[in-house]
Amino acid sequence: MNIFVNGFSKKNKLQKIDWIINNHFQSNKKAKKILFDYLNDDLSIQNLHDEFIENAISNFYLPFAVAPNFLINGKYYTIPMAIEESSVVAAASKAAKFWANLGGFKTKILGVEKVGQIHFFYNGSFRKLESFFKKIRKSLIIDLKPITSNMEKRGGGISSLELIDMNKKINHYYQIFVKFDTVDSMGANFINSCLEKITEIFKFYVEEKKFLNDDNEKIDFIMSILSNYTPNCVARASVSCKVEDLEKNNELKNTKFVESFINAVKISKVDPFRAVTHNKGIMNGIDSVVIATGNDFRSVEASIHAYASRKGSYSGLSNAYIVDDSFYFDLTIPISIGTVGGLTKLHPLVNWAHNLLGYPNARELMQITAAAGLAQNFAAIKSLVTTGIQKGHMKMHLINILNQLGAGRKQKNEAIEHFKTKIVTYKKREGISK
Ligand code: MEV
Repeated sequence: MNIFVNGFSKKNKLQKIDWIINNHFQSNKKAKKILFDYLNDDLSIQNLHDEFIENAISNFYLPFAVAPNFLINGKYYTIPMAIEESSVVAAASKAAKFWANLGGFKTKILGVEKVGQIHFFYNGSFRKLESFFKKIRKSLIIDLKPITSNMEKRGGGISSLELIDMNKKINHYYQIFVKFDTVDSMGANFINSCLEKITEIFKFYVEEKKFLNDDNEKIDFIMSILSNYTPNCVARASVSCKVEDLEKNNELKNTKFVESFINAVKISKVDPFRAVTHNKGIMNGIDSVVIATGNDFRSVEASIHAYASRKGSYSGLSNAYIVDDSFYFDLTIPISIGTVGGLTKLHPLVNWAHNLLGYPNARELMQITAAAGLAQNFAAIKSLVTTGIQKGHMKMHLINILNQLGAGRKQKNEAIEHFKTKIVTYKKREGISK
């Protein structure tokens, strides 16, 4: 159906729902009920959710789970995960327990630098622009104090402000490239406010100091925005153990296990088709923690995939190797997330997730998230090179299939029992009572 609507956002929630149901569902009562079924009876929670975004008409649930037994730098964590995919949490928990028995995850922060850019065009000489920028640079930073002083009190702020000549890429193109430390906040609002203010102040000095000689000389400011690519805001997670410990502990008691595991990682380094799936497995762990802790998974995804391409072609993010008789497995990821601001206090379940983790600071949460990514990658490769992925995956997916088929509790129990020793497919339903 092809319907245009004016003033939709001005309608109240019930009017919006009615408009949608009448125009897109032919007044279907069932369609309306589904929207209402997902509304929260507690109005304080519902109103909060309604106000997060424009045109909210219901809530969209994801399962919220925990993966216990994550031993990270000697401390146990129970990690919150929000994800719809069967088997991800089970795999993370299994990997966490496995590594807890072998010393756990070691993690560290390699950097916390965030980036913002002001993109502009100038048709005069670079030398003139450069010397003007040098003259006003200090004043720019001082004039920005009303915005940066609170962040500075918390130990952050602007760490560098540079003019970059981008003429080689596009004629007359320049950037003001700003580096930030946003401490425990992800920092998007802070960075964007700073950038817009810098642009405003820059324009003011251009006028005041009569920078442009004549009508032919022009500066066009195009945009001022943070970069979600944060190659210097990075966490690393690693695990290691004796090779023999891994070989006796995999499902198949396979002495070739470590060799196959390392080869699987090697393949992800050279083949983008495999690398994307390899990294997708890592993102299963990372995204679910990022979502559960109220962070922006789109920015984390975008940054991590750009990082995976930083050497010129897309490649797997983890490394696996042997030194002497020890196996090493590690993951380094750019991850710009926060533990203050955004949804962290506002969303009760998100706040609960931070509470569960002991209210970590941003550095700690970055490391927890990297460990979850590494655990997920370990679990995936371990399954892939031994039993295959479908065994564990379909065991969890079986419940989804049974729910889709409308199975009752008794049927579900029978099916779970039946498929303990058999491969799950839609067709093989012979052991299930009607
Ligand atoms: C499934 O969500 C993730 C895996 O495909 C990852 C991988 O292949 O490494 C199992």
